[in-house]
Amino acid sequence: MTKNDDVRENESGRPSHVEIDGVRLKLAQPFSSPGQWIGQREILSQLLACWISLDEADLPLTPRLVGSPGVGKTQLAIAAALAQQRPLYIYQCTADTRPEDLLVTPVLSQHGEISYHASPLVTAMVCGGVCVLDEGNRMNEKSWASLAPLLDNRRYVESIVAGITIHADREFRAAVTMNQDESTFEIPDYIMSRLQPTLSVGFPSKQDEMAILQYHLPFAEPEMLAMTVEFLQRSHELKLDFSPRDGINLLRFALKRIAQDPTHPVGRDQAWQEALEKCLGDEAVDLESLAQRRRRTLGGDAVPLGLADLFFDPDDPMHPDRDELDQIDDLDDDDDDIEY
Ligand SMILES: Nc1ncnc2c1ncn2[C@@H]1O[C@H](COP(=O)(O)OP(=O)(O)OP(=O)(O)O)[C@@H](O)[C@H]1O
Ligand SMILES: [Mg+2]
Repeated sequence: MTKNDDVRENESGRPSHVEIDGVRLKLAQPFSSPGQWIGQREILSQLLACWISLDEADLPLTPRLVGSPGVGKTQLAIAAALAQQRPLYIYQCTADTRPEDLLVTPVLSQHGEISYHASPLVTAMVCGGVCVLDEGNRMNEKSWASLAPLLDNRRYVESIVAGITIHADREFRAAVTMNQDESTFEIPDYIMSRLQPTLSVGFPSKQDEMAILQYHLPFAEPEMLAMTVEFLQRSHELKLDFSPRDGINLLRFALKRIAQDPTHPVGRDQAWQEALEKCLGDEAVDLESLAQRRRRTLGGDAVPLGLADLFFDPDDPMHPDRDELDQIDDLDDDDDDIEY
């Protein structure tokens, strides 16, 4: 807690208000939930290393956590904050996030007075907690610009709305998670250079994936868990984006369908297949074909485009190079392909 702040605590012992330069700020509540990180110890250590302070003059780093949707970026940040026993505040960034939403928001109270509410980020700064800026690249440049001084050695933000400068406590730490999809903004380089290092969260190994599913669905039968892990691992091998979150959702739905009518229980396989289709779409039923289609669209190891490709679909029987394409597909197909 910064020295010159006047702090009020609520019944839970957590500060509820703080006064900075004569302006009273209502603080946000920390996020509390059990957040265990399973497997991949290295990336957890890397994240914790970013937050170490070696000396009075040393500054912590604010890393960006990147990886496919549902791979565990937010979970990793939550687990790191819990491991350090620091209060955790999560700010969900969106395309509509304005600088004042990130910092201090004026709220009209019942008696017509204005009260100032500190965001989870400002609360973490004041209380010496961890702030996870979740899905940071959904936020536009203007909002990022308001954080530039916080993310370098100045460690403060300026709230235009409240007319105050808020300094971060020495214990304040932050991390940003980022998604790689089309609905995100390009973050400017001067901000990217303040969000270092980049820690890339990868898909879990088979054992870890089993442990993750078991942790979230401890009541699932081993047979159902195994089917789901098998599916996820095959999709990781094929470089498809199905994630632990997809596995958890699909298994959850399958288990609910089985439990729905105890007199006519839906068969396990049938329920699992149905959940696969309903949660992940028809295309997830045949992973091999999906992977092949993706490779072709991405142009990765696909055949270079010829003139005929401009006029014919690769599967079109009229395609002049069809025989060649079929041969390439045959080479791609492993003997041990599994169809789900
Ligand atoms: N290593 C892990 N240990 C425990 N749970 C995990 C792990 N990896 C993933 N999960 C679980 O998988 C689900 C998805 O994780 P999370 O929400 O952190 O993904 P994300 O990468 O942040 O996704 P998004 O990009 O959509 O925000 C959560 O329920 C999370 O608890
Ligand atoms: Mg997330």
